[in-house]
Amino acid sequence: MNAPLVDAALTGVQAAEPVLDARGLSFAHAGAGCVFDGISLSVRRREIVALLGSSGCGKSTLLRVLAGLERPATGEVRFLDQPLTRPHPRSALVFQQPSLLPWLRLADNVGFGLDFAHQPRAGKAARAARVAAAIEAVGLSGREGAYPAQLSGGMAQRAALARALAREPELLFADEPFSALDAITRAEMQALLVDVVHRWHSAVLLVTHDIDEAILVADRIVLMGGRPGHLVQEWAVDIPRDREDHPDAVAALRLAILAALRHASP
Ligand SMILES: Nc1ncnc2c1ncn2[C@@H]1O[C@H](COP(=O)(O)OP(=O)(O)OP(=O)(O)O)[C@@H](O)[C@H]1O
Ligand SMILES: [Mg+2]
Repeated sequence: MNAPLVDAALTGVQAAEPVLDARGLSFAHAGAGCVFDGISLSVRRREIVALLGSSGCGKSTLLRVLAGLERPATGEVRFLDQPLTRPHPRSALVFQQPSLLPWLRLADNVGFGLDFAHQPRAGKAARAARVAAAIEAVGLSGREGAYPAQLSGGMAQRAALARALAREPELLFADEPFSALDAITRAEMQALLVDVVHRWHSAVLLVTHDIDEAILVADRIVLMGGRPGHLVQEWAVDIPRDREDHPDAVAALRLAILAALRHASP
């Protein structure tokens, strides 16, 4: 890491064991320059971490490496204390686009992740229960038979979240999952995300370039910047969960992050 992380001592959940622990990561695309270098990052159980940074700094690439979709050039990713070489069955991903299969009904889309070869085989009844619980959690009960083309953008993204939850993930990787949604739907989805991951006892690594989203959702915010990308600074978000009722604390943190973001931009 090129700069010391600050405020780490303030993190309330610091004592909890990590679900994800990455050390000394660097990554370069074939024939291209180094995207990021010297990155070490942990996500503790049930912790919501927002990875914030300007466009092109390497957030999505880092998320793909942390999720086991890409191998780092140097360093190691450990998931539940085991070296990670491919996406872990107790992890799940949500992207900007919901990526539902158009020929499958909602319930089958939500259950789809449970059919992956590396997902522990769930019994039929257990699988159906998981799917129903996930659909209920995101507020789509009654729409199980709908095809993706019959869903609004917000409903499709709820379905994508339900598909992730059905895997009962220890860690949910989310890459700008709400940035294609309108402001009201986005706010609803941010609140829903916090609610369901708390109920599911999942940790989250949320990539976003929206400072307000990071402050609203995260327990901890990590700022990435520079070329090659590195982790610049981090903040524990010690603001009670009804954060909109604490505008002064939110505004102060927002200003601090904005200043650091400007400083970190290449
Ligand atoms: N397949 C690729 N080959 C070469 N370079 C790539 C490839 N994919 C991404 N890059 C480069 O890697 C860098 C990091 O890209 P990445 O998508 O991780 O950034 P990001 O922080 O997620 O940006 P954004 O906020 O716009 O989504 C960029 O400079 C990008 O041009
Ligand atoms: Mg990106």
